[in-house]
Amino acid sequence: MNPTAQTTEPGGEPKYFIRAEGITKVYSDGTVAVKDVDLEIHPREILGLLGENGAGKTTLTKILSGLLPPTKGRVVSPRGPVRFGSPREALEFGIGMVHQHFALVGTFTAAENVALSHRRPFGRLRLSEAKGRLEELMDASGLHVPLDVPVERLAVGEQQRVEILKVLSRDVDLLILDEPTSVLTPLEVDELFALLRRLKEGGKSIILITHKLKEVLAITDRIAVLRRGELVGDVEAAQTSPEKLARLMVGEALIAGKEAIELRTEELPRHEARREPRREGPGVLHVEGLTVRGDAKKIAVKDLSFDVYAGEIFGIAGVEGNGQTELVEALTGLRVPVKGTATIRGVEILGKDPREIYRLGVAHIPEDRWKRGLILQFTLAENAILGVQRWKEFRGPLSFLRWRKIREHVRALMKRFGIQATGPGAPAKSLSGGNQQKLIVGRELSKDPAIIIAAQPTRGLDISAAQYIRALLLEMRDAGRAILLVSADLDEVLALSDRMAIMYEGRFMTVGSPAGLDRQAIGMYMGGVVSASKEGA
Ligand SMILES: Nc1ncnc2c1ncn2[C@@H]1O[C@H](COP(=O)(O)OP(=O)(O)OP(=O)(O)O)[C@@H](O)[C@H]1O
Ligand SMILES: [Mg+2]
Repeated sequence: MNPTAQTTEPGGEPKYFIRAEGITKVYSDGTVAVKDVDLEIHPREILGLLGENGAGKTTLTKILSGLLPPTKGRVVSPRGPVRFGSPREALEFGIGMVHQHFALVGTFTAAENVALSHRRPFGRLRLSEAKGRLEELMDASGLHVPLDVPVERLAVGEQQRVEILKVLSRDVDLLILDEPTSVLTPLEVDELFALLRRLKEGGKSIILITHKLKEVLAITDRIAVLRRGELVGDVEAAQTSPEKLARLMVGEALIAGKEAIELRTEELPRHEARREPRREGPGVLHVEGLTVRGDAKKIAVKDLSFDVYAGEIFGIAGVEGNGQTELVEALTGLRVPVKGTATIRGVEILGKDPREIYRLGVAHIPEDRWKRGLILQFTLAENAILGVQRWKEFRGPLSFLRWRKIREHVRALMKRFGIQATGPGAPAKSLSGGNQQKLIVGRELSKDPAIIIAAQPTRGLDISAAQYIRALLLEMRDAGRAILLVSADLDEVLALSDRMAIMYEGRFMTVGSPAGLDRQAIGMYMGGVVSASKEGA
């Protein structure tokens, strides 16, 4: 067979940039992550890649970008089969990927990370060149980050921006973005999409992985859908709808009678009999005059005071990097504050270590789940009892852990939270991004806490998993728990909060009921603009 026979259009331009032929990936533990997938990536095209958590999106794109070898099948270009020994070879071929889990050197600044990623004939890009390049790109993409701070000190959202800028700085022909928008603000998403469109018009190919159907429909030309590793749809974006896509993702049988595919708050459980929380005196969490320094030595949280009462969700919205991370770190013992007090059920917590704080009845869903939430080399069972080892039922004589009980507990968690894994003994790193998140949320919520500090609890989750977690938070609130919700997803904060604050540069711009805030005012507060008609607390 002549491989070039059907690869060019009559005009001579190659029809596709690369093509996956019969790609199958079986991981060493026997998991079939991708099954016999044929997919063409065309120049001048934005391809959306959809699928539930664990469907195989990351695996397939890692194979396309040369990071993982397929078990079966091959990747071909019009010039013949392509095989990459490393991501660098893929980059040299013109394929770059922005990862769901970042691939940055933590102790290096953004500029240093970019310089490092460019190999020129005689060494790396000079730092000044990298900075110049980054400044141009920041203007072009609308993504702004501090260039001179080690990236490990940046908020997760900022790190993601650095990662995107790093790959954009390489002039690639195929750009793969694995859930880039979950950490971006609506305005940044718009600007990033405008840039992607410009790249496309310049002849590039783009693969965009996201769980947001609206986004996918707004920007892509074509949408491929994976279900349990199989390609179940390859459709023109203009010919489809959110309903059709949801059906493809979960399968006809599963969606029957359940059309909840976007964040529809009316569909979350509302308990009519729920008692209004009594907001008197200090709350379950009481914070007064809290001031916290960030890593760049500047004050990140400024003299903040608030209460979270039993039976309410107190939401904090705002652009990431405005002190939310430092606030949560101070409240969970991960950062020593400059001054102020914070109590949980009357007990001072500032200055205590995380374990002491957790013992007071705190559940913590950390934003930085790969650093703080899970130990990736450990098994599910080991991860499921992090911070809960004291549970009596898991301890036998002489303080030995009762592993049989722990495994049972993990199986129950897997079932309840829909965690896809081979079993309690699987290493956490073998889980897909969304399944890792479900494991943390499941572990934390099963602690039966008095207060839940949830940072970005649904980031990276597919629509049904996210809805499940949201419903669970509401249920726990109705059961009298106090919940502090920090989320960059404004719709989520609006939908779940009884009271909400908008954080800007370490302070609350406003505190009030979500119903009393209009979108325009919220946008202004998020940008630090105080409107004339300021809401009362
Ligand atoms: N290193 C690994 N070892 C074993 N199994 C793995 C490994 N990496 C991924 N898997 C499994 O392969 C399947 C597909 O995972 P993948 O990460 O590609 O999913 P995904 O579609 O990107 O999901 P998400 O939306 O949650 O990120 C999952 O069942 C996952 O548990
Ligand atoms: Mg993934």
